[in-house]
Amino acid sequence: MKISSLVFSEVRFNEKTTAWTEHTPFAFFLIEKLRPRILVELGTQYGTSYFAFCQAISELKLSTKAYGVDIWYGVDIGLGTATATDIFQYALKINNQHYAHFSNLLQMTFDEALVYFNDETIDLLHIDGMHDYASVRHDFDTWLPKMSPSGVIIFHDSNVRENGFGVWKLFEEIKNLYPSFEFLHGYGLAVVCIGRDIPKDFLDFLEHEQRDTFVQHLFASLGKKISLEYQLNNLQAELGEKTAALNQQLALVQTLQQEKNAGLWVEPRHDFILQESSNSIVHPAREHQLETPHNSTPRSLGFGKLARLVHERRLKSSVLKSGLFDKSYYLQNNPDVAACGMSPVMHYVKFGGFEGRKPCSIFDSAYYLNAYPDVKSAGMNPLLHFIAYGRAEGRRIS
Ligand SMILES: C[S@@+](CC[C@H](N)C(=O)[O-])C[C@H]1O[C@@H](n2cnc3c(N)ncnc32)[C@H](O)[C@@H]1O
Repeated sequence: MKISSLVFSEVRFNEKTTAWTEHTPFAFFLIEKLRPRILVELGTQYGTSYFAFCQAISELKLSTKAYGVDIWYGVDIGLGTATATDIFQYALKINNQHYAHFSNLLQMTFDEALVYFNDETIDLLHIDGMHDYASVRHDFDTWLPKMSPSGVIIFHDSNVRENGFGVWKLFEEIKNLYPSFEFLHGYGLAVVCIGRDIPKDFLDFLEHEQRDTFVQHLFASLGKKISLEYQLNNLQAELGEKTAALNQQLALVQTLQQEKNAGLWVEPRHDFILQESSNSIVHPAREHQLETPHNSTPRSLGFGKLARLVHERRLKSSVLKSGLFDKSYYLQNNPDVAACGMSPVMHYVKFGGFEGRKPCSIFDSAYYLNAYPDVKSAGMNPLLHFIAYGRAEGRRIS
């Protein structure tokens, strides 16, 4: 039996890796060889196996009707932080966007789904629900009558012999009743030809497989490659996120450096800062006195408060040094500021600039904010922006 290039196809949806991933190339092969009219999967979860079948059906343009059955309550799997609803929505989105014309997801128990399929109609059944012996035996017995004369059943996890898994036991019981084959990689995948009319070349292929391990190795290697690609994609995504976070931090450092170079950072005088806190924070009405530093007795301050004071002092100082803040002009044109007793320069830095008030007759804050939307969206005071960047960039002030 020829193995076509389909088995080398790239996997379309490869964000989620599960124990099934390594069987993806065989899923492509199986669909190509069996060309099922009806495919049913019991246990779809994220759709690793199901969407591999769907991908092959879609690429081969088959007229298969496919059904993925799962209650999506997430038993026996490491859900991580995803809820069962997240997983269902993930699978539903892929299904609706890419395969809805031939595939349906049935959110119900396997037993509930039984009534929706006539006897002897299913050509390919994948059983991948609960893996303890009793459950897998139940799934096999209840769905067996649904298998068509050319029906094939595959079971995942047939090579797991711990944690209460019992697929291996069921396979031991039935493998001599039907032509069968088992891949040992990827936790094991057992293939059982239930029907009487299985295509002869497929039976020959299984027969040949029993004797020659070449194809077994081929599928194991192709599966491993896909699994490693998944891991690589995840690591690349993680690297991308970390690089983006690092770049953000670097940008912040650069901004701070630019502010420092532009003179926005004035080294604070310790005695001044301490005095400022007692006046401006506790008694805002006396804040105007702070523009002239004077001596005071140092007292202890919280770090956050201290940092805020240092920052405010720097901003205030650079506005005053710019020559573009006229205290009398500001008070005259803003009687509300004069009335509230707040330091005019501090009012401009904290509120006035953002409100479009002019710090002097020649600098038009409203014009600057409207003309330069980047300043507005960065949430910067217009005059402070002009001092730090705008002046050097040749931006207009009115
Ligand atoms: C091992 S996961 C399926 C893995 C999937 N085939 C893949 O490729 O990764 C088993 C799924 O079967 C579902 N399941 C188990 N027993 C079920 C039952 N009796 N009825 C409906 N869903 C069931 C669980 O919700 C779970 O999502």
